[in-house]
Amino acid sequence: MRKQYLLNKDWLFHYGEIKEPLKIAKKAHALGGLTSPLPEENGERVITSAGGDYFLKLIAQGDEQIGLRNLANTDLDSSLNESWQKVTLPHDWKVAQPFKDEPQNLMSGSKPDNISYYRRAFDLKKDLFKNNRVILHFAGIMGLADFWLNGAYLGQNISGYTAKDFDITEMAHYGSEGSNTLLIKVDTTVGHEGWWYEGAGIYKDVWLEVIPNLQVVTDSLHVFTKAATLDKATIQVDFTVKNYAVAATVTPQVVIFGQQKDLSKSVIANNQTQNYTATFEIEQPELWTPETPKLYKLKVLVGTDILIQEFGIRTFAYDTKGFYLNHQQYELHGVCEHQDFAGVGIALTQDIIDYKLQILKEMGINAIRSTHHFASNELLTACDRLGMLVIDENRLLESTPWRVAELEKMIKKSRNHASIAFWSIANEEVTGNTSLGSRVAQKLVTTIKALDKERLVISAELLNPEGIVDEDYLSNLDVLGVNYPEAGVMGPGAKLIKENYPNLSLLSTENASYFSTRGVYKDNGKKQQCNNFGSMYSMVLPGKRQPNDPGVGGTARPEEVMAYLKEHSYMGGVFLWSGFDYFGEPSPFGFPAISSQFGIVDTCGFKKDYFYYYKAHWTKKPFVHVMPHWNQTGLDIDSNGNVAVRAFSNLAEAECFINGKSFGRKLVVDCRVDWTVPYQVGELKIVAYGDNDVTAHTIKITSDELKTVTTTLLFDGENEQLYALKALDKNAHFVPTCNQKVTLSVTGGRILGLGNGDPADISDFSLSTINLFNGKALMIVEKNAEPVTIQVSC
Ligand code: GAL
Repeated sequence: MRKQYLLNKDWLFHYGEIKEPLKIAKKAHALGGLTSPLPEENGERVITSAGGDYFLKLIAQGDEQIGLRNLANTDLDSSLNESWQKVTLPHDWKVAQPFKDEPQNLMSGSKPDNISYYRRAFDLKKDLFKNNRVILHFAGIMGLADFWLNGAYLGQNISGYTAKDFDITEMAHYGSEGSNTLLIKVDTTVGHEGWWYEGAGIYKDVWLEVIPNLQVVTDSLHVFTKAATLDKATIQVDFTVKNYAVAATVTPQVVIFGQQKDLSKSVIANNQTQNYTATFEIEQPELWTPETPKLYKLKVLVGTDILIQEFGIRTFAYDTKGFYLNHQQYELHGVCEHQDFAGVGIALTQDIIDYKLQILKEMGINAIRSTHHFASNELLTACDRLGMLVIDENRLLESTPWRVAELEKMIKKSRNHASIAFWSIANEEVTGNTSLGSRVAQKLVTTIKALDKERLVISAELLNPEGIVDEDYLSNLDVLGVNYPEAGVMGPGAKLIKENYPNLSLLSTENASYFSTRGVYKDNGKKQQCNNFGSMYSMVLPGKRQPNDPGVGGTARPEEVMAYLKEHSYMGGVFLWSGFDYFGEPSPFGFPAISSQFGIVDTCGFKKDYFYYYKAHWTKKPFVHVMPHWNQTGLDIDSNGNVAVRAFSNLAEAECFINGKSFGRKLVVDCRVDWTVPYQVGELKIVAYGDNDVTAHTIKITSDELKTVTTTLLFDGENEQLYALKALDKNAHFVPTCNQKVTLSVTGGRILGLGNGDPADISDFSLSTINLFNGKALMIVEKNAEPVTIQVSC
């Protein structure tokens, strides 16, 4: 039975350069320094034989240490000092760094780049290697990573968006040989892969896997739906068995839906592999959809090795009318997402990812585009289980051998996830639609199709007003992804492509990019804040603009996106940029703006108003939401004392009341209704009316000043809890304009991160104080066995 041991705890972390260990050695395992046990640690610096000892002494007047230094260039001086701190993974070291106004880092979140080191020791049982392979897994490291183990240079990992595995069976230390010493250098000074905040460090799990010598090759297992209807499905299972032991007679078994299949018996010699295929038919399968995310389990047994895999039964197709899930046309209500979150940067745990998805599901989202990089295993697991289709995106339109190898690896690691419907080969590459791009695309698509025949291949492309595309380039794709087809600034490119290539399948891969700051109803350039009614800042021209200037308010307004979708259903749906705000790319502002304003929710997941616009379109449970808040400060009240009120609802009509007086019942058009009313302190109430006496209402009340800050549990995960901090007045009314600093402490856990969604809060990192932003902040607590209690003071 294979076993996994998580190595997330007890790392030592060093911020900044140290004397970098050598990579090339004169004698095996003799680099020394921090790459092997120090004198006070368990194990020898360099494991030497009696002959080795004798020889080292012989050449150095009896001093073995001098012998090592002279002969092997062994570093015998390095030591650990107090600058090494204990950390737990996942870890993003940029989170704790101060913000710096450096133009070259504006897009990546205004946190400086640096070099860092991680070190950890681990012990392995005597003789473990005799019957097993020992694999070291790194799910994600952001920054160019160099690895050393036990005095030898292990290798390098380049991309922050791919996983790295090392088979360390022979070079590991076992039993009395002492501890294994792992040293990793992470360097973000050598370049960035994104124009967004990418974080830094070992930001995903690290674990050891011990797999029996006769084994199913982990990433060879591929389970996929060959055909599926509600009556019957055909599932194929492919895998490879490898034998690291003496020749063995093997009869692999596959268990699925309670049916067990014994596959044909074969003899596999030492160090040889054998491929197997099994096909299963199932009557009346429960098909996987975002609404019914039914997952099945499959078990493969070979000797003592057992591999268990979850999978879903579903089919994907696309034509000139749009996307089909299980043979039914299915409109994609998607968001584009980067991978960070308030308080923790990119060090997201499964609980935090589940929380993010829960918020998006509440809005009626059924698809995620993992932009512009591979989706993490945690994200895919959450999408499988909670129900969300995925566009999984390759980082770059490049066919450098290492990029192709990474693509291959990530497909193999991810392809069993039920949720992936598309592979995207690229986003907005300037070499797309060129002959160079076409050659590269062909290489990437061939690589994908060789490993995965279920998924549709797209590329998210830039438009031009003339609708020029390269036919060779297009011929590689199942579907052409088009970014921002609804946006005026893009011209009629999408329309012309549809006219010129009527047989081309099109998917709208990026939409909106609409600026808004949670709780803000007036543009405020000084505070880098954008009005939720629509900002007058523009993506393409600096400063405040006039209403019809290009890019005002963002690339396109939500209303334009939804109107476009209604008229162009062949585009398959939409992928809104972006679900969550993310750090970096602080458009339309410069420093001290440090996060995007494109999110439908902020970096903490607190909803901005237009969340409810989309929700009204995509969900059925009756509701109404109103903006703005009802505190005079921060409202755009005109010289006649009037203010705009806007409601979003999925009901047919709505009525606005101020302090009980009606200001008109109106039809809700496009899920939205507007009034201009005199501002009066007190109560703003909207009642929405549907068929059959269905009603919904919502109230905003002018608050008094802050009295208390309350904590509300938002999400109780397996390991973490997320809390909202909210400013309340003496009548327990929410104070939407409060930016009070609060101090927090917890028992029964530790604070993992604090955030507030303010796109321009450049306060120093803290795990005990946070400024509320427009009445709210977020706290993430890692639980221990005790109940969590929270103390808040302000
Ligand atoms: C798109 C790009 C995204 C993001 C967005 C902002 O063109 O693909 O990564 O930069 O613009 O509007």
